[in-house]
Amino acid sequence: MKEQEKVMLTGVRPSGNITLGNYLGAIKNFVVRQSLYKSYIFVADLHAITSPRNPEELRNAVNDCMAMYLACGVDPNQTIIFRQSDVLEHGVLGFIMTFQTHMGELSRMTQFKLKSQTCGKHGIDTGLFVYPPLMSADILLYNTSIVPVGLDQQQHVELTRDLAQRFNRRYGDTFKEPDVYIAPVGNKILNLQNPTEKMNKSDGQNMGTIFLMDDLKLVRKKIMAAVTDSETVIHFDEEQKPGISNLISILSAITGEDIPSIEKRFEGRGYGDFKREVADVVCHLLEKIQANYQKFKNPEILDDILNDGAKKARIVASETLERAKLALGLK
Ligand code: TYM
Repeated sequence: MKEQEKVMLTGVRPSGNITLGNYLGAIKNFVVRQSLYKSYIFVADLHAITSPRNPEELRNAVNDCMAMYLACGVDPNQTIIFRQSDVLEHGVLGFIMTFQTHMGELSRMTQFKLKSQTCGKHGIDTGLFVYPPLMSADILLYNTSIVPVGLDQQQHVELTRDLAQRFNRRYGDTFKEPDVYIAPVGNKILNLQNPTEKMNKSDGQNMGTIFLMDDLKLVRKKIMAAVTDSETVIHFDEEQKPGISNLISILSAITGEDIPSIEKRFEGRGYGDFKREVADVVCHLLEKIQANYQKFKNPEILDDILNDGAKKARIVASETLERAKLALGLK
């Protein structure tokens, strides 16, 4: 099969402003490969209702996420861009996939374990528990070969592979088994203030998370204030030097310069010099993204792209769902 006939797909939850982690872990890797595959990117709004949301806020967040895709370089002429909830097949196949999934598998998902700890007094919704089979449906509906995601989503893509295999064994060859794509550098960007934790959208406005729409002066301040260690050596060692290693990863993922070359260039230089270069590179990137974002933040342009994307996505999604229903005897 030619690469162009292979499908690449990814998605982001519209649950807060997009972070540098989302960009480096997933969006950038999608953008640089979009011309090599039949490409789909979607706004995972069904995945955003796992906690109660203000409807107006969710609608705005979907538009922001879309505008951000475009600002980061997703090209509607090369990629089908759509909103998950516009393609009803996601919900139906998601439901079907829950019957291929064991309770034990879902209980073992790291994200479920982490998120269920923060549910508070209203308790854990079953939606949070069955989030991975819905994600499997997102991927399987489009006969996806490659799913670029950050490290935290690897387990969900691997589960998707297992579920596809299980379904195919039980009901005959129906789904394509996807592969995950994890970038060698930048797959887990850490919180700048607490570099043992992942940088998260939900961390709110704090000094540890860089949002793509942050004021550039603030971005510089966040990087200059990033927690490091008591040494002065710029050396990549995730165990002993998580703060410096995180900044090296950010620099390397943005510029493409490899880690040994960065270490060599900064031999004998201090953390101040190094952080200034990281800040320059990040601000340069965000300046471009922010200028593009203003161009694309137009509801009419966004609606047209979403409507067109949903139409195209539905054609493939409905074919796959029909195949699955036929295999199950639901047809
Ligand atoms: P979400 O919205 O949490 O994150 C979007 C993408 O960003 C990656 N990511 C990171 N990468 C590196 N460093 C970080 N600190 C960091 N934080 C987040 C995530 O790994 C992800 O790739 N369940 C998904 C959305 C989804 C999806 C899908 C993705 C739904 N269906 C199907 C791919 C295919 C999620 O919550 O991503």
